[in-house]
Amino acid sequence: MSALTPVITIDGPTASGKGTVAHRVASALGWGVLDSGALYRLTALSVLQHKINPEDLQAVARAGQQLEVSFHPKGVTLFGAEVADLIRQEHVGNLASRLAPNPALRQALLERQRAFRVAPGLVADGRDMGTIVFKDAELKIFLVADAQARAERRCKQLIEKGISANLDDLVADMRERDARDIERAVAPLIAATDAHVVDSSQLTIEQTVQNVLDLWSRVLPTPPAKV
Ligand code: DC
Repeated sequence: MSALTPVITIDGPTASGKGTVAHRVASALGWGVLDSGALYRLTALSVLQHKINPEDLQAVARAGQQLEVSFHPKGVTLFGAEVADLIRQEHVGNLASRLAPNPALRQALLERQRAFRVAPGLVADGRDMGTIVFKDAELKIFLVADAQARAERRCKQLIEKGISANLDDLVADMRERDARDIERAVAPLIAATDAHVVDSSQLTIEQTVQNVLDLWSRVLPTPPAKV
């Protein structure tokens, strides 16, 4: 293990369950969580609120740099206003995915993400946690699930929140967003060469969390043998 605070990275496509798994693994270990997608979503919201042209790469990067964000147990504030529900909206997620290839924005968010690495440990979820932001992470997970399974989960979540949703539209949207995240030249969605690929299509959240915790227990240094 590195001398730094340990990190478990969980990367994967949208709605693969990364966020829920990351939170549960973090709470089982008593660690903090970084939801890096939220930073891209917050940037998207700020771009919308300040009517910034999404094509203006420097202005978007500045918006990312200047975000005044505070994560708290029940949500997140942007410039002092509670925005947890706003940033979960589909159009905000879509704009985040369109802004994400901007190298200047990614650079602007880099140090902000690394600052989450504090003792006793961090579970970081996103697209490039294991490949770029925390390349030296002790354990890297690449969490996948087929688009249909992910769209069904997202549909259920939206309906539970009282937001109307159409499954076919969500599947199409999910495929489009995956393609954009995978095909972009900068920090594409790709498994780190040393990542463990976990397919959650047929697993419950509990099984997926257990899978990650089992992998983590294998990374922990073995106590010296008694003589
Ligand atoms: O994980 P999410 O769906 O909340 O992320 C929203 C968008 O942000 C996603 O479509 C791509 C982008 N993103 C990214 O480029 N890199 C990350 N580490 C996390 C998210």
